Amino acid sequence: MTSTLTNPAAAAAEPRDGAPRVRTLRIAMNGVTGRMGYRQHLLRSILPIREQGGLTLPDGSTLQVEPILVGRNAEKISALAAQHGIEEWSTDLDALIDDPSVDIIFDASMTQLRPETLKKAMAAGKHIYTEKPTAETLDEAIELARLGATAGVTAGVVHDKLYLPGLVKLRKLVDEGFFGRILSLRGEFGYWVFEGDTQPAQRPSWNYRTEDGGGMTTDMFCHWNYVLEGIIGKVKSVNALTTTHIPTRWDEQGEPYQATADDAAYGIFELETPAGDPVIAQINSSWAVRVYRDELVEFQVDGTHGSAVAGLFKCVAQHRSMTPKPVWNPDLPVAESFRGQWQEVPANRDLDNGFKLQWEEFLQDVAAGRPHGFDLLSAARGVQLAALGLESSATRTTQSIPEIEL
Ligand SMILES: NC(=O)c1ccc[n+]([C@@H]2O[C@H](COP(=O)([O-])OP(=O)(O)OC[C@H]3O[C@@H](n4cnc5c(N)ncnc54)[C@H](O)[C@@H]3O)[C@@H](O)[C@H]2O)c1
Repeated sequence: MTSTLTNPAAAAAEPRDGAPRVRTLRIAMNGVTGRMGYRQHLLRSILPIREQGGLTLPDGSTLQVEPILVGRNAEKISALAAQHGIEEWSTDLDALIDDPSVDIIFDASMTQLRPETLKKAMAAGKHIYTEKPTAETLDEAIELARLGATAGVTAGVVHDKLYLPGLVKLRKLVDEGFFGRILSLRGEFGYWVFEGDTQPAQRPSWNYRTEDGGGMTTDMFCHWNYVLEGIIGKVKSVNALTTTHIPTRWDEQGEPYQATADDAAYGIFELETPAGDPVIAQINSSWAVRVYRDELVEFQVDGTHGSAVAGLFKCVAQHRSMTPKPVWNPDLPVAESFRGQWQEVPANRDLDNGFKLQWEEFLQDVAAGRPHGFDLLSAARGVQLAALGLESSATRTTQSIPEIEL
């Protein structure tokens, strides 16, 4: 695979007067007025990377980034650019895709529009980096994965949860064999999303409309697929029950609308570790639940030698040798603190924002002209799990997960 750095300004400049070489990647960022595009990708990733002076490449040279903001509304997008000292903005995504000086097309716009954008960008030889899910349908996601495998560009898809400090610590425990034989994983994700009548909802209304690409299963099962793969092993089957607990919500204009998409998904997944051991995972995902947990997502892994509970930031563990002996006695009030019986797993290193860490890995991959680890095929497996989760719920059957052939 070769890098397509065709911009004269972007090409690695020859060192002058012994000055370090700097290569600048121009990144067209689409959907940056949205929640994810703005907060996580522009504000927490690309601008901090630019402000820190870029990245150091293995040969000692510097890789800098230059964002170009793309959106539909010139007023909004130019104001955003001015606010953050960004020189370039545009309302013409197609022109940027065709512009040879642009290296990377990033997409955090609505899911429905994504396959078209990514296909055009890869056909034009652009590296792509994109939010998940890559497509609304499995066929489109597989088509993108096929294109990604042959386009000769670096293609990356956000797999942010695996970069969360809590999950990094959990993965470390797996790698060190802390659990012995892993038996099960249980996950609890969710929080109350306001209906929008008495106070504005804290998520966009399209999230609750199937026709606009919304829904808990579509949104979260693609995350759970790479989390389960990345921590434990491949997902072999899914049995899910999805539902719409809150049928009427109020949109950004204060108008009531029918929530056509599922706002909760209760899933059971059969997994297989790389050693071939079976593991059962169960994950509840809900936007209609009030939080009595330490974090908005928590995963508990139980194994023969130990257990651990990981959230976004924290991870606690209990080894077999340190496991107290609980005795069931409904006649006596609880006298011990079960939470106090766990030890906190240390990070032992600085764990930066997960979105930024993945961007940095992706940019290093672009510079090296190699594929990114979390690619369009991994993303297609995520879309597949969501599709089969919905199918499982609709038919009340267990769906096995076939291997995707490219
Ligand atoms: N990685 C994660 O944890 C995570 C979390 C939430 C959302 N997402 C994904 O990120 C994407 C954006 O989600 P969001 O929550 O930021 O949504 P959002 O509604 O806040 O933002 C959507 C963006 O798309 C733009 N847009 C909307 N309709 C458009 C149209 N017709 N043409 C062009 N642009 C249009 C909007 O202007 C905005 O910039 C979705 O694909 C979603 O699945 C990922």
